[in-house]
Amino acid sequence: MLPAFQWKGDHLLLIDQRKLPWKEEYLRLKTLEDVAQAIEEMKVRGAPAIGCVAAYGVVLALKEGKSLQEAVARLEKTRPTAVNLFWALERMKRVGEDPVRAEEEARRIEMEDYQANLKMGELGSELVPEDSNLLTHCNAGALATAGYGTAVGVIRRAWEKGRVKKVFVDETRPYLQGARLTTWELLKLGIPTVLITDNMAGHFISRGEIDAIVVGADRIAANGDVANKIGTYTLSVLAREHGIKFIVAAPTSTLDLKTPTGREIPIEERSKEEVLFINGRNIAPLEVEVRHPAFDITPASNITAIVTEKGVVHPPFEEGLRRLADGSND
Ligand code: MRU
Repeated sequence: MLPAFQWKGDHLLLIDQRKLPWKEEYLRLKTLEDVAQAIEEMKVRGAPAIGCVAAYGVVLALKEGKSLQEAVARLEKTRPTAVNLFWALERMKRVGEDPVRAEEEARRIEMEDYQANLKMGELGSELVPEDSNLLTHCNAGALATAGYGTAVGVIRRAWEKGRVKKVFVDETRPYLQGARLTTWELLKLGIPTVLITDNMAGHFISRGEIDAIVVGADRIAANGDVANKIGTYTLSVLAREHGIKFIVAAPTSTLDLKTPTGREIPIEERSKEEVLFINGRNIAPLEVEVRHPAFDITPASNITAIVTEKGVVHPPFEEGLRRLADGSND
């Protein structure tokens, strides 16, 4: 499996996720600005990957002779919803201006994320019903993390344990992370994969063809409300209506316990062009008004379980999440 990014000592080698699955093109990010633009333009995306790459962005900035403050201020402006970005920058701030120590910390952040994914895979796979067809949304795989994946990590471990028949992947308009990235990853792993458009999920769930939904998260509020890719909320309503499991897998770096509920989570609004154009052609009159929230909020009441590397939390989430964050569940 290709890693989303690799630290090379003086630059970050990044697979350009906008080009997948057509082309495996690598970019060399050598400066703070290279990294900030790669995050903004979604050459790299997915909450944990954004956090790791931002940490290396700080390292590159310090090597360029820029201040820690300047690096953090630039990177904080890139994308507002995934809290892993702000979590990683907090860790880098605590280390200070020494580039050697900053590099060690960035490597630690990357390694910890990879280990967290393996652990979530192990824990989350036990929640997957036997002989199930799963549905996942967006891309919460190796490409969205330091490797292995959060939701895809759970799915691939459950597949290895023989619990999964096939995985439905919805295309995830407008950036098509499901169609372009998740199907690409699952097929590389040899997992039977069915691509559907976003509006087909209800049809398959209502006919009993999907047994559980597994997704990642960009930010989890203190009460267990989850911000994730736009369309996740709709799936959670379907899961509740039809009585199937709705499982969220995310490392503790995605917890934001200072934010009480999902209502206070900032939702990124991206450009109208990303909705209006597909492959360079407009799919509606250019003058139409377009809205493009990149994330939505799934209420805690629609979630069966939140899987983290420190343990699985069941409703009511508030106390369990706080115990995980305090480390008392270790
Ligand atoms: O806009 P993106 O592609 O960065 O959004 C990604 C998602 O919503 C993922 O589901 C989430 O970050 C979890 S990634 C392990």
